[in-house]
Amino acid sequence: MRKNIVAGNWKMNKNLQEGIALAKELNDALTADKPNCDVVICTPFIHLASVTPLVDKAIIGVGAENCADKVSGAFTGEVSAEMVVSTGAQYVILGHSERRAYYHETVEILEEKVKLALANGLTPIFCIGEVLAEREANQQNAVVAAQLASVFSLSAEDFGKIILAYEPVWAIGTGKTATPAQAQEIHAYIRSLIVEKYGKDVAENTSILYGGSCKPSNAKELFANADVDGGLIGGAALKCADFKGIIDAFK
Ligand code: 13P
Repeated sequence: MRKNIVAGNWKMNKNLQEGIALAKELNDALTADKPNCDVVICTPFIHLASVTPLVDKAIIGVGAENCADKVSGAFTGEVSAEMVVSTGAQYVILGHSERRAYYHETVEILEEKVKLALANGLTPIFCIGEVLAEREANQQNAVVAAQLASVFSLSAEDFGKIILAYEPVWAIGTGKTATPAQAQEIHAYIRSLIVEKYGKDVAENTSILYGGSCKPSNAKELFANADVDGGLIGGAALKCADFKGIIDAFK
């Protein structure tokens, strides 16, 4: 059976001391009141080595927000999947719409990143989702299908190791959430594409998270949908009480 997962994406927020404080606060809160789902926090690279020893691995997984599309060498400023693993992190967000839009990450670049992440034992949280103009033109299905090309070249075994996150770009940081019906519709479509490509068993075991203005007040109705297996949380992951409120939607 697929897992329910709530993952936080801190993006470029929190200095090291603030990040450590948030990770400790969350670890204390979830140790006192255990979650009913997997919990992951994805932090800036520089936080990883400090945060991983602070959290109980059995309760909170730690991930990066990106990794390089190259193994190692003369790529100034880049951080490899192997380096991420060496911090104790287990996950990596790849394909976030902000990386696609601002850092020109293409389907091909993302395919390399996913392969390197998997080769190093990281679990990719692979993001897909359409922009507003594409939604208004009713192109969302074609857009996510094209974005999935980065992961549809994987073997069934490797595909079975990834987590997907559907994040409509028009809902990210805008306060405008997809309705539960909109989320369910496209999540079911994404799962149908996985059925076509890898068969029913793989599709049934793939966790598909929703992301975009998810908060404690709307998490329960979003996660209640058959094909929504949790959330990838931006803004609300920056406050312990809000993030825990979303995690508690699975209670
Ligand atoms: P918000 O929750 O701030 O809308 O961000 C969602 C997101 O981009 C998570 O990756």
